[in-house]
Amino acid sequence: MRDASAENSTDRDKTQHPCNVNKLDRACKPHALRQMALVVAGLGWIAVSSVTHASDAKPAPQTTRSAMHEIYGTLSTAFRLSLNEADFGNPAKRKEINKALKALSESAASLRDHEQQLGVDDDYLRRSLADDAREAWLAYERGHYEESRFLLYGMTENCISCHSKRPDDTDFDLAKNFEKDLRKADVLLEDRARIETATRQFDTALNTYEEMFRAQTMTAAQIELSGALLRYLKLALRVKRDPGRAIATLQSFAKREDVPRYLRNHVSKWISSLEEVRKPSSESNLLKAGEALMKKASQQSQFPEDPDSFVYYIEASGVLHRYVESKPTQKADLAKAFFLLGVAESHIGYSYWLSETDHFLETAIRVDPHGPYAEKAYTYLESFTYAGWTGSGGEQIPEDVKAHLDELRTLIDQPAKKKQ
Ligand code: HEC
Repeated sequence: MRDASAENSTDRDKTQHPCNVNKLDRACKPHALRQMALVVAGLGWIAVSSVTHASDAKPAPQTTRSAMHEIYGTLSTAFRLSLNEADFGNPAKRKEINKALKALSESAASLRDHEQQLGVDDDYLRRSLADDAREAWLAYERGHYEESRFLLYGMTENCISCHSKRPDDTDFDLAKNFEKDLRKADVLLEDRARIETATRQFDTALNTYEEMFRAQTMTAAQIELSGALLRYLKLALRVKRDPGRAIATLQSFAKREDVPRYLRNHVSKWISSLEEVRKPSSESNLLKAGEALMKKASQQSQFPEDPDSFVYYIEASGVLHRYVESKPTQKADLAKAFFLLGVAESHIGYSYWLSETDHFLETAIRVDPHGPYAEKAYTYLESFTYAGWTGSGGEQIPEDVKAHLDELRTLIDQPAKKKQ
């Protein structure tokens, strides 16, 4: 899953990105395992301590929405200027691009630092976004234009992950003009759909994915390998809550002549799971509903990472995110929800750029270090870490990652504090 040789994101000297920035490639993982460096104990309402960051940013904006407007404005400006690769390093444009990237970095830092509304399940993403945006700007300042552009494209993974978790019916119409520019620049369908998701044009993104699934520019197997079907299902289920639309799309995708048998089998399993998920649930308790879906998902898996289970894991994580957002006060329940989110994410987290699995497992430990889920979450987190850092070159767990695990271990092992 992860590459033991991947660089740590805190290494400011990294310059080489062998990847084509015009087509983000799953094989490129310059940021793999960055999460261990990033995950911090910001635990919101059930906080052990509430974390405030020494901020280098402007005063925090009033609401998430106003922070988003700023981020969108600065990102779209920087993005427009990056569409033409040659222009990005063009001395005549340098001042303008530098200004946009600096502003983007500042607005991402201010989103990271503002305390409002966003849940603890989003904390990792806002830190990660702030980190990426800062690195993109610093890389530009150093004259590393390719790296900067690469980071600019990659950081949209943070926007996508955050936006495709929870239901939303409204598209962000102000992005329509930006969308026109993307079309003019002939951005690949797959990348266009990602940028549309990042800028919250959900219907447009679904349409773009559907166009991609019909187009013959990629084979059916390539489409599956790109992760586009999974991304599409996340949007259709978690954001739009429209399994019917996903069923219709998969049915027509299955009619393509180039769908290999293995994929045809997965698609037919997805369709039958979607039919199940579509039925109204009799369970009104979101945690219980999430648990039941997790169980169905694991029953559906015949081997580790079996794609057959995707629909149930996606639906389960959507339900669990809604549960977490309802701000439950029972620590043990919250820890359970985060543990299950971590497990679900380890199956459906497809981004090469970031992994939320560690963050969810760590949060499961921190919210209730002496509760029934801490040990389970720790065991899973440790095995996930070993799996990520052990490869043909042996075991290469960096010292800071080890120290981080030790810290969590101590939290579990130390005697519980007496109630104040
Ligand atoms: C930590 C989670 C998170 C991250 C990361 C994030 N967003 Fe958002 N974004 C949200 C939430 C939540 C809303 C909905 C806010 C509301 O409607 O009050 C939102 C709303 C928006 C909106 C719509 C604003 C409106 O008026 O409807 C835009 C545009 C947007 N985000 C762009 C971005 C871009 C671009 C990025 C990445 C560079 C990004 N966001 C990263 C959580 C996030």
